[in-house]
Amino acid sequence: MSAPGRPKRESPSAQREASPVSAVLEVADLVKHFPVQTGLFGRGGGVVKAVDGVSFGVDAGETFAIVGESGCGKSTVARLVLRLIEPTLGAIRLDGRDLTALAAAELRALRGKLQIIFQDPYGSLNPRMTVGDMLAEPLMLHDVVPASGRRARVAELLSLVGLQPDAAQRYPHEFSGGQRQRLGIARALAPDPKVIVCDEPVSALDVSIQAQILNLLADLQRRFGLAYVFISHDLGVVRHIATRVAVMYLGRFVETGPATRFFGHPRHPYTRALLAAVPIPVPKARVREAVLAGDVPSPLAPPPGCHFHTRCPYAIDRCRSEVPPLEPADGSLVACHRWRDLEAAPVALFRAGQQHPTLARLQAAFATGKQQGARRPGGGRGPISSTNN
Ligand SMILES: Nc1ncnc2c1ncn2[C@@H]1O[C@H](COP(=O)(O)OP(=O)(O)O)[C@@H](O)[C@H]1O
Ligand code: SF4
Ligand SMILES: [Mg+2]
Repeated sequence: MSAPGRPKRESPSAQREASPVSAVLEVADLVKHFPVQTGLFGRGGGVVKAVDGVSFGVDAGETFAIVGESGCGKSTVARLVLRLIEPTLGAIRLDGRDLTALAAAELRALRGKLQIIFQDPYGSLNPRMTVGDMLAEPLMLHDVVPASGRRARVAELLSLVGLQPDAAQRYPHEFSGGQRQRLGIARALAPDPKVIVCDEPVSALDVSIQAQILNLLADLQRRFGLAYVFISHDLGVVRHIATRVAVMYLGRFVETGPATRFFGHPRHPYTRALLAAVPIPVPKARVREAVLAGDVPSPLAPPPGCHFHTRCPYAIDRCRSEVPPLEPADGSLVACHRWRDLEAAPVALFRAGQQHPTLARLQAAFATGKQQGARRPGGGRGPISSTNN
């Protein structure tokens, strides 16, 4: 059911991303404006344009990553896609059905197909529920298996995320951070979803545990053809999991395209600055690009024209008045008036042997995880570490 009074016109700032032909999830011209009170006594009114016309599609077995600094609107996109909040404008289609136009009962029936994993699994796990009850709840709610099969399905879910069956009798506080994230993943898997939105799923974890959780997510994606919307501020993490990447700045996508092009040939000055800001050990290998200066401007009063012009070393007059549209740029889409002028130099950041130490540790942990996964008894396919922290 659409919200009363929700305008049907398309967003003027719509930015269409080249999405897969058969996208299981398609987001079109999504807008979310939050009315807020401003001024000393809250008498003034303002609008936070948290999401200002983003479009993308994600296919089965694909990971679409959304990256950007804190406050740029990533979690708002997540909440909109999950229909936890109502969009101001735009469509969210699952297998071609617009979720914003469905009646409540129809939406409930489809809800299980879209799941979310949060950064803080503990905050989203009920401390008074045993793991078994917690996993049985979505099975019941979405009527996935008959009552007689629930116990076996709970054991299967635990095994899928690398936990022992006796975990079902325990409470969330008895688990480590990494294990709790495994529980969060098991709960997301319970209703047999097609799409999982992962909102900073490894940001609170140690690097070695991050690798295990990313391996697990990749393994589950391969097994079940899951589509991921993967939200992160960490480019090192994104590089390991993304098929395609979108960079978000103050509610808009400024560059989006295949991960290989994104990391190899970033076009937008913001993307280049983000990549340059990742510290690397050899100074000579640093990209010749200005590192980001200043804070992200307030989303209550974003700069006119290109939102990035207040921090962009290449800004010209046109940038201060004219919104740059997202336009094709050699396999990517980029929103910059000057992208053609700027040298599209390949980023030396990830050159072999000169990697960011965090990345190197991640990769080492991945390699270990893969070896352990290969030795795993029972012929499991995944590179899941047997330590399961
Ligand atoms: N319910 C809300 N009311 C008003 N502003 C909000 C609300 N939720 C988020 N925002 C604002 O929207 C912007 C984007 O927030 P968010 O999506 O959480 O960013 P990110 O996940 O990228 O850090 C921020 O400026 C935030 O303060
Ligand atoms: S449009 Fe102008 S201000 Fe914006 S990123 Fe491009 S050059 Fe910089
Ligand atoms: Mg967030």
